[in-house]
Amino acid sequence: MLLRDKVCIITGAASLRGIGYATAELFAEHAAKVVVADLTMNEQVAAEIRTSIGKKVGQPAELHTVRCDIGSFDDCRTLFESAASRFGRVDCLINCAAVVKSQSFLSITEKDYDFVVDVNLKGAFNLGKAAVEHFVANKGGNIVNVASVAAQRGGGLVGGAHYAASKGGVISLTKSIAREYGPEGVRANVICPSMTETGMLDGMTEEKFQEIVSAIPMRRAGKPRDIAGACLFLASDLSAYITGTTIDVNGGSHIH
Ligand SMILES: NC(=O)c1ccc[n+]([C@@H]2O[C@H](COP(=O)([O-])OP(=O)(O)OC[C@H]3O[C@@H](n4cnc5c(N)ncnc54)[C@H](O)[C@@H]3O)[C@@H](O)[C@H]2O)c1
Repeated sequence: MLLRDKVCIITGAASLRGIGYATAELFAEHAAKVVVADLTMNEQVAAEIRTSIGKKVGQPAELHTVRCDIGSFDDCRTLFESAASRFGRVDCLINCAAVVKSQSFLSITEKDYDFVVDVNLKGAFNLGKAAVEHFVANKGGNIVNVASVAAQRGGGLVGGAHYAASKGGVISLTKSIAREYGPEGVRANVICPSMTETGMLDGMTEEKFQEIVSAIPMRRAGKPRDIAGACLFLASDLSAYITGTTIDVNGGSHIH
């Protein structure tokens, strides 16, 4: 049990097919107290998550669900307050919430750009600020932001330039938090997944999918659980001396 009694907020975890949910499930298996947050959270989604995690761990999970728009700082601060009032404190934030748009550079309008950057980058800023406020007061805490290989290689596969740029910003933002708040006991790291089998791939043709897979050294796409495993490592004390780093979870598709 790598997370016994650690209180972990996971954003972007509403879809049972997603990376956020897989992380919530794995964290519950490791005895964490899990706070699941998403823009689309409602009673039905919360009940599905509760049932699914309960089945996996074999008993009712210590779970709290919150509707949160990470584009709003007030929502992010309320998320931390709600988690702390339910479980006493927060130890860790895993930020998986994001939006993606597949567009060529010249087709991106100002509105498209603002939509993607406001959720992905401003959302990471809002959550980071709410987290750091809480963690500094608590004398420590841990942030994991899920970015993307698109930040390292340029967009083009699933997300456009605005998506890639927003994720590049998330990497820089995370490194800045690591540098500035390391002395206060705050760790901050990034995970860069490559193509992962979640709802984000809906709409991709089988032909395109196979073409991408054929160029991956491990010859398969990522599974949500692959990314969740890296989140578990970074959330646990196994990574106690790791901060400001980026972990690639990409089957070797971007070796650099
Ligand atoms: N699937 C991939 O191929 C892939 C590759 C690289 C990186 N990623 C990243 O992994 C993370 C998880 O994505 P996923 O593939 O599980 O897709 P997903 O669509 O299942 O997860 C994204 C979640 O974010 C939520 N969300 C969107 N806007 C929000 C907002 N304003 N506030 C709160 N929640 C909001 C959505 O409702 C959704 O549940 C994302 O950061 C994504 O960019 C995914």
